[in-house]
Amino acid sequence: MQLRNRFIKSGANEGMNVEGAPSKALVKHHRELAAGGVALTTVAYGAVSALGRTLGNQIWIRREILPDLRVLTDAVHAEGGRISFQITHGGAFVTGVRVKGPTMSASSGINQAGLLQGNWRQRAMNEADMARVTGEFVEAARLCREAGFDAVELHMGHGYLLNQFISPLSNRRRDGYGGSAGNRVRFPARVLSAVKEAVGKDLAVIAKINVADGVPGGATAEDGAITARALEAAGADLLVLSAGRNVESVWFTFGSPMNVEEMSRVLQGSWLQRTAIRLAARSVPKGLQFREMYLLEYSRHIRAAVKMPLAYLGGVKSLANAQTAMQEGFDCVVMARALIHDTGLVNKLQSGALTQSGCTSCNGCVAYIYDPAGTRCILNPPNDPALNRVRASAA
Ligand SMILES: Cc1cc2nc3c(=O)[nH]c(=O)nc-3n(C[C@H](O)[C@H](O)[C@H](O)COP(=O)(O)O)c2cc1C
Ligand code: SF4
Repeated sequence: MQLRNRFIKSGANEGMNVEGAPSKALVKHHRELAAGGVALTTVAYGAVSALGRTLGNQIWIRREILPDLRVLTDAVHAEGGRISFQITHGGAFVTGVRVKGPTMSASSGINQAGLLQGNWRQRAMNEADMARVTGEFVEAARLCREAGFDAVELHMGHGYLLNQFISPLSNRRRDGYGGSAGNRVRFPARVLSAVKEAVGKDLAVIAKINVADGVPGGATAEDGAITARALEAAGADLLVLSAGRNVESVWFTFGSPMNVEEMSRVLQGSWLQRTAIRLAARSVPKGLQFREMYLLEYSRHIRAAVKMPLAYLGGVKSLANAQTAMQEGFDCVVMARALIHDTGLVNKLQSGALTQSGCTSCNGCVAYIYDPAGTRCILNPPNDPALNRVRASAA
């Protein structure tokens, strides 16, 4: 896959789905990103099975939604962009769906992430589960190819199923899939090589990984390097370097605390969810201040460990930041918030109309994952909710 420039839109839950399929709002959003100059736009969180969803309205990749996916890929291609689908499985991280029986994960025990929905137990996956889930990733990637995607991104960070294997916070196995960092990445690397073998001639196969988990007892920078080397050996075409875990260290993913006020406003009715958010906010280190390129030191460690293409992510907000990333040996930059704030940013950087994003890194947009109209920057006008009620392929 060749890209027209080095700017990638990060997979960032758009909240723009209906009946587990893309809505017209999702098509509009990614069309605007492509028209705004982004080389590769990533559609966030496509569950490889119904059980892999974390929220009820998420896209669940299946043949029935191919016409909707095709509208999405056509819209981006018409603007000269490329499009990737983040394919993933939540495992035990299921916050918005009630699962029958225990959720699946690397290890068994109490499931912190599932408590709000009553998914309070999790069980350790066995070989048969691993074979089935590998098959689900392969089938999802094949459907993405059929729908016209240029790439798939396997989500191996932030605490979802594949990360539940990689991180010692959730992997307490005593077999060949637990213990050392090399063992913990075995199953995710196997999934990647199966996907690569199935679609690798036609699609780029990307993995999003954690450079570190950011909390004591979590994956370290050295673990991140071992993970990267294993995925390089498994045939990944590009690694997107992220960080943090949704339950233990979401502030590390964003380089700043969650926006508790905005979250409470959007989630109005649910006192339980709001209490959980306030409790999670307490884990934020005192005095945490957002810094541009807040993951650079960790990402350098990965740069030194592998030769393959790497995408720098985390607090890229200016042309200068992107240039720094290139000088540091990264091949491209990946941005979420700066492009949620302004889908036309890349063209503006290119023309010289702007050198700096106006995003304030307040994390208000994260709350709007749960809004009926989908994610938006709180500095911008609201989205049209009507567009988010209609499937992409509807007449
Ligand atoms: C509204 C919002 C939703 C997000 N949802 C996802 C997601 O579904 N999958 C994912 O891998 N990362 C998600 N992220 C994290 C971003 O992809 C990215 O890793 C993070 O925002 C740091 O990049 P930035 O500094 O460029 O914003 C989300 C971020 C935002 C702001
Ligand atoms: S709400 Fe807007 S300003 Fe705040 S982080 Fe999101 S995109 Fe940036």
